[in-house]
Amino acid sequence: VEQKSRFTVTRSSQAVAADQRAILLADPGFGRLFTDHMVTIRYTEGQGWHSHSVGPREAFQLDPACAVLHYAQEIFEGMKAYRLADGSVAMFRPEENARRFAESAERMAMPVLPEALFLEAVEELVKIDADWIPQGEGSLYLRPFMFASETFLGVRPSNEYIFCVIASPAGAYFKGGSKAVTLWVSEHYTRAARGGTGAAKCGGNYAASLVAQKEAIGHGCDQVVFLDAAENKWVEELGGMNVFFVMDDGSIVTPPLGGTILPGITRNSIITLARAQGHVVREEPYSFAQWRADAASGTLREAFACGTAAVVTAIGTVKSNDGDFTIGNGDGGMVTEKLRAELTGIQRGTVADPANWVR
Ligand code: COI
Repeated sequence: VEQKSRFTVTRSSQAVAADQRAILLADPGFGRLFTDHMVTIRYTEGQGWHSHSVGPREAFQLDPACAVLHYAQEIFEGMKAYRLADGSVAMFRPEENARRFAESAERMAMPVLPEALFLEAVEELVKIDADWIPQGEGSLYLRPFMFASETFLGVRPSNEYIFCVIASPAGAYFKGGSKAVTLWVSEHYTRAARGGTGAAKCGGNYAASLVAQKEAIGHGCDQVVFLDAAENKWVEELGGMNVFFVMDDGSIVTPPLGGTILPGITRNSIITLARAQGHVVREEPYSFAQWRADAASGTLREAFACGTAAVVTAIGTVKSNDGDFTIGNGDGGMVTEKLRAELTGIQRGTVADPANWVR
C-alpha cells in the first residue's frame, strides 16, 4: 500500500500474468474483459468526498436496501485510452466527460464530483492498468460511474454515494466490426421526453431502451432508432449512440440537442471536424418520413452512428413496420469514412490535432 496524491494505492496480488493478458488482448471484443484494478471514492453527506482508493478490482457488498437497487439513482461515462505508436498513452477530450458527468449528477440530484478529481481518478486507473491497453486498433474503454449507496427505502436523494472507475480492453462495439449496421425504428417505444433525463447519462435511460433494442435484435437489426416522444416523428438517437445524415450536396444533418438527446462528445467532435472539412452541418430536426423519402430519392447519400463505443459506424439498412429501405449502396460512403479516419487519426496521434483534444 502506498500513499500518492489523495489516493491510497493497493496493487492487486492476483493480477493476470503477462502471457495470459496477451492472449486475452488479442481478441478483446467489447465489455467482457476487465483489468486488474478499480478506483473508488466515497461520498457522505456532511463529510464530502473521501476514501480515495486505487485497489484490486473486486465485487461491492451492497445491502439489499441499497438505494440504487430500488430507484436507480446512477450515472456513468464512457471514454477511451489509446496506446500511441511511440508507446505513450492518450485520452480523447477527457475533460468533456468530466463536465458531462457533473451535469448528469445535477440532473439526478447527486453530488457533483469535482472535474479535476474525476480526471485524476481516471488517470490513476489508466496508469496502474496501462499494460491492459491493446496495441493497434483496440483501446482501453473506461467506465466511470456513481451510484446511490445509502441503505434506505424512502424516495429522496441518497446521503451516500460510491464513485468508481473500471476499465475494459475493447475492440469494435459491433459484432460485424466496422461493417455497416442495420437499424430498427421503434414506432412504439420512446427514449426520453422533454423535461426528462434524456440528456443525462444515467443507467435508467439505457434500461428504458432495452425492450426496444430487444425488438431491434428480434428483427435482425444491430441498433434501435428512437423517435421523439411528443410527435413520434423526429429522429432522436439510437439505443446507445448519436446519428448523422449526409446529403447529396455534401451537407450533413444531425438531430439538435434539446434535453432529450445525449450530448455526445463524439457527436460534438464530428460536427467540428465536418465543418473544418468544408461540410455545412445543420443541427436540425429530421423526420423519419423525410429520411425514408431522401433515401429513396438519393438525396440522402450516407448515414452513420457515432459514440465512444461505436466510434463512427456506417448505417446500411433501416427497417420498420412500414418496410425497409437502404441508404446509398448500403455500405457507408466516403464522407463517413473520411470523418472516421480523421477522428481516429487524431485519437491515435497520427493526424494533426488543431483543437488540442488529446491528453
Ligand atoms: C459509449 O459510447 O461509450 C456508451 O456509453 C454507449 C454504450 C452503447 C456503450
